[in-house]
Amino acid sequence: MTSLAVLAAMVQATDTVSSIFAPVSTPAIKERDLSMLVLALSAIVFVVVGGLIAYNLAHFRAPAGDQGTEPPQVYGSAQVEAAWTVIPLVIIVVLMLATARVIQEVQAAPQPANAVEVTIVGRQWWWEIRYPKLGIVTANELHVPVSDSSVHRPTWLTLESADVSHSFWIPRLAGKTDVIPNRTNRTWVEPFATGTYLGQCAEYCGTQHAHMLLRVVVETPEQFARWVEQQRKAPAADPAVEQGRRTFLGNACISCHTVAGTVANGRYGPDLTHLMARATLGAGVVPNTREKLRAWVKNPDDLKRGALMPAMQLDDEQLDQLVDYLLTLR
Ligand code: CUA
Repeated sequence: MTSLAVLAAMVQATDTVSSIFAPVSTPAIKERDLSMLVLALSAIVFVVVGGLIAYNLAHFRAPAGDQGTEPPQVYGSAQVEAAWTVIPLVIIVVLMLATARVIQEVQAAPQPANAVEVTIVGRQWWWEIRYPKLGIVTANELHVPVSDSSVHRPTWLTLESADVSHSFWIPRLAGKTDVIPNRTNRTWVEPFATGTYLGQCAEYCGTQHAHMLLRVVVETPEQFARWVEQQRKAPAADPAVEQGRRTFLGNACISCHTVAGTVANGRYGPDLTHLMARATLGAGVVPNTREKLRAWVKNPDDLKRGALMPAMQLDDEQLDQLVDYLLTLR
C-alpha cells in the first residue's frame, strides 16, 4: 500500500474505529486535551531543534575547495548552558502539572448520587458486567445512559479481575485503567453522544488478548430504562424448544453458565439469560447469529483458539435443539 493510501485509511479509521482524538465522554475529553498539549509542545521542540540543525548544516557548510581548516573552537558558554537546562526544565514542569491535574480530576471526582453503578470483571477472555443495584448480569456489552449539558448521568465503574491482569480501555470514553487480581480499581464515563463505542483489553492477558472486546452502548435515558426492564425479566419458557432446554439443563453447560429462572447458575462463563440481546459472541469475535452460535457451541476453539469453553460433544440433532433454545433467550 502506498503511504497515501495508509494515511487515507488512518483518517477513515478515526471515524469508524476507536480514536482517542474523537472523545465523546468526560474523562476521554480531558485526556485528549492533555494529549494535544503534549503533542503541541513536542512539535515546537521538534521544529526548533530540527530547524537549528538544518540551519547549521546549510550555513556552516565548508566552502568548495576547503582543505579542512578548523573553524574557531569555543569552550563553554554560561548562557547557552543555562538555556538548555532551564528551557527543558520548564517544559517538564508544565507537562507534569498539566498531567497531575487531569489525573486528579479523573481519579478524585466524587461519585454523584444518581450515577449508574457497574462492576466489571475481566476474565480470560471476556468481560463480566454486573449492575449490583439493578440486579442485572451480562457480558461484553455495557449499556449506559447519555448525559446532556443540563442533566449529568455518569456511570461509575468498579474494575476487578477473576484471573490475570487486564486493562479496561474505551478510547472514545475513558483512558486505560488496570484490571488487577485481588485489587479493586475505579473509573467512570460520562458520554455526551449516543452510539456504540468499542473498547479493548489493553494489557496482554494470554492467547486471546486481542479478542477481548467490549461494546459500550450509550442510549437515551428512555432506551436505557427499557433495556434495564428487559434485562431484569426472566425469559419466558417456550414449550416449542423444550427438548433443547433439557439438553442445556442436562449437560455441563449449567456449571459455567447462568440462565435466570432455571437451575443453571454457574458463574465461570457469561450469563446467558439474555444472550440474544447481545450483538456478538466470544467477546466480539463473531456476530451473534444462529449459524455462528451453532458453530460456537459445537466447538468454540474453531472461532476463538484457546477459548476456555470446551466443545460440548453433541450430535447434530441435539446441537440444533440446543441452539433453538438459546435463540429464545432474549
Ligand atoms: Cu484481557 Cu488482554
